[in-house]
Amino acid sequence: MNIVISGTGLYTPPFAISNEELVNAYNAWAEQYNTENAEAIEAGEMEAIQHSDTGFIEKASGIRNRYMMEKAGVVDPGRLRARLSHLAEPDTFFGVPTQVVMAMSAARDALEQAGLEGPDIDLVIFSSSVFERFVPSLAVEIQKTLGASGHAYDMAVGCSSATFGISNAADAIRSGLANRALVVTSEYITPAINYKDRDSHFIFGDACVACVVEREQDTRSVSAFRIRSRKLQTMFSMNIRAGFGTRLLLEEGEGLLTDSKQVRFLQEGRRVFKELVPAVVRLVKAHLAEQGIDITQVRRTWLHQANIHMNQTAARKLLGKKYTPDQAPIILDEFANTAGAGCIIAFHRFKEDFKRGEIGVLCSFGAGYSIGCLVLERV
Ligand code: COA
Repeated sequence: MNIVISGTGLYTPPFAISNEELVNAYNAWAEQYNTENAEAIEAGEMEAIQHSDTGFIEKASGIRNRYMMEKAGVVDPGRLRARLSHLAEPDTFFGVPTQVVMAMSAARDALEQAGLEGPDIDLVIFSSSVFERFVPSLAVEIQKTLGASGHAYDMAVGCSSATFGISNAADAIRSGLANRALVVTSEYITPAINYKDRDSHFIFGDACVACVVEREQDTRSVSAFRIRSRKLQTMFSMNIRAGFGTRLLLEEGEGLLTDSKQVRFLQEGRRVFKELVPAVVRLVKAHLAEQGIDITQVRRTWLHQANIHMNQTAARKLLGKKYTPDQAPIILDEFANTAGAGCIIAFHRFKEDFKRGEIGVLCSFGAGYSIGCLVLERV
């Protein structure tokens, strides 16, 4: 039985924020901190905060812009922390979560592309890096709001959440557990970012993507892609991490929920680069070899959008030195790193020019270290 991705949708948050805006806010805070602590810094009792720099950010990451669900708190030098999004109801535990609102918008577009409506879906997988709430599952709320039947659940695989979610959906349909699935990756990740950390304050943006997965024989879509084969891998590493979770409830003391380095996103960027890129290249090459596919048959790769150097290195090692941007499109200049959503945004934006029978590789990688590789063929 062939399974296809028959529709994709993208929700882009309302607030664009440039490197300059981010850096100006950070530097204003750093100035104030250094002035207030000038004596202690002079005496060597405290360290001065180093300034952030737009030139560094663009050169090191390739990121120029990102979208956010809320901006005022992030660019306020007196705060440098996201506020509750305007879409959230004041009591977020009992109101509709922002991630669900984002999901419904992406889902509508994905369903429309697939020629379907909410009640046609009987499996919702909410697969993401971050969760506004753990219980009840966000997926079940999306299921209810869509008018979908069957079952729904949440899953988390960091930046590989979407590819692993699509893989689960394909298995569920093949086994007869479901007929049509919606996989949602709603990366409302900015609340997890420490905007007082210059090493990471520029890396992430919010975005939500949705994919419809169903049997090829059932699809009404005119832009469906068959999932020809899949390969998934995880290898434990703490080089990308964020500590928010129930453990926080066991901690004593003030401030843990705000600025603690343990709680928000933290990474050893250089180590991630050195360890993950070769692993990704090995896995994709092995996958294609197992499938008897030569790299020259691959029209395009839709890679996780981590940082420009990671993406370019992976693309060069896979496609050869002379690969063109069209073979490995970049969206991170506009969206930054959107965790699990990145490779699907690239797929969503750069798939309609495929002809029947052409092959592409959708590949995510990130925290975990997780890698998800799907070989897709336009049908
Ligand atoms: N502005 C100015 N300088 C900055 C800065 C900023 N915003 N952020 C860091 N720097 C400084 C560092 O403190 C360091 O200073 P030092 O040499 O005095 O110690 C210097 O710039 C170089 O930093 P480094 O971290 O070595 O830079 P890099 O070239 O490795 O780029 C990343 C940093 C994070 C962009 C890069 O390592 C990366 O993207 N790695 C991949 C990780 C990734 O994308 N993960 C996402 C999940 S897959």
